[in-house]
Amino acid sequence: MNNELSPDALAALSAAARAAHGRAYAPYSEYQVGAAVRSQRGVIYAGCNVENATYGATLCAERVAVASMVAAGETELDAVLVYTDGGPLGMPCGICRQTLVEFAGPNCAVVVMSPTESRVTTLGALLPEPFKLRP
Ligand code: THU
Repeated sequence: MNNELSPDALAALSAAARAAHGRAYAPYSEYQVGAAVRSQRGVIYAGCNVENATYGATLCAERVAVASMVAAGETELDAVLVYTDGGPLGMPCGICRQTLVEFAGPNCAVVVMSPTESRVTTLGALLPEPFKLRP
């Protein structure tokens, strides 16, 4: 797995994440997030944040996208894109970073994007020493 993303791959990931962003269920924070992951087979799975009145039951967009991939029968991804539109770039939270590590290596591309800026980094840079139960 590597973090090279072609312009086509970037366009496909951002289109999926933007569409999911539009479907975010965020009545409490009013902060919409869309995410898209690319699986080992090259399929793109999208997710949005799904909030809850108990707040703590809220699901982040990245984890919804990963769950969608796993539910479809895949357990490896090599790129993730997170789209938000307001405030600072929407960096994946700590729980999402740990969730991504379960299914991706340190070279996995992580793109954070808004209508006005974007940044590309890697999962290894965002979570350099992740918890692993097994080597
Ligand atoms: N959120 C995400 O979807 N992904 C993250 O990585 C951080 C936060 C969502 C959760 C909640 O619905 C809203 O953003 C505000 O925290």
